[in-house]
Amino acid sequence: ARLVVLVSGSGTNLQALLDRIAADPGYGARVVAVGADREGIAGLERAEAAGLPTFVCRVKDHADRDAWDRALTEAVAAHEPDLVVSAGFMKIVGKHFLDRFGGRLVNTHPALLPSFPGAHGVRDALAHGVKVTGCTVHFVDNGVDTGPIIAQGVVEVAPDDTEETLHERIKQVERTLLVDVVGRLAREGYRIDGRKVLVP
Ligand code: GRF
Repeated sequence: ARLVVLVSGSGTNLQALLDRIAADPGYGARVVAVGADREGIAGLERAEAAGLPTFVCRVKDHADRDAWDRALTEAVAAHEPDLVVSAGFMKIVGKHFLDRFGGRLVNTHPALLPSFPGAHGVRDALAHGVKVTGCTVHFVDNGVDTGPIIAQGVVEVAPDDTEETLHERIKQVERTLLVDVVGRLAREGYRIDGRKVLVP
């Protein structure tokens, strides 16, 4: 399967994907391009170091959010992906993107959805005082972190955790989970039935 990966930050999830693909000839998917919503991020450097084509689609370069969404859709579509992986991509995609890639856009979120959606899942879980949190890999729908859940990983909260220490432990679980899930979807195929994701 062909993967386009979208990033906004350090790109450690992208790196985990690239490392697994390099190590496992039977993985069943390969990254064909990496896109970002901003320049100068480590995620793009990782992609370039791996010799992959990259593209940047910034909101501020477009007349409005809708035009940005159209441009992002076209930039991704040019690489003809089977699956699009949002790996720390900090933008909500719009209607055009979902019309084209709905049911094929996988996101990873650093909390146990449906608790703590949004941009501050780790901070919000910590502030709430939960004792366990984790990460969720899910398909993207038109809400914020509301789409059908594919897999989740659990992480215990330590009494002295800060947002940074907790996020780092979540990310260790998250990378493996995301890489495992994407490979499985690519190799086995899947069906989305309402809120349920069925992998044969
Ligand atoms: C991940 O925890 C992701 O869920 C969150 O941002 C982090 C991205 O990390 N939204 P990286 O860019 O893959 O290192």
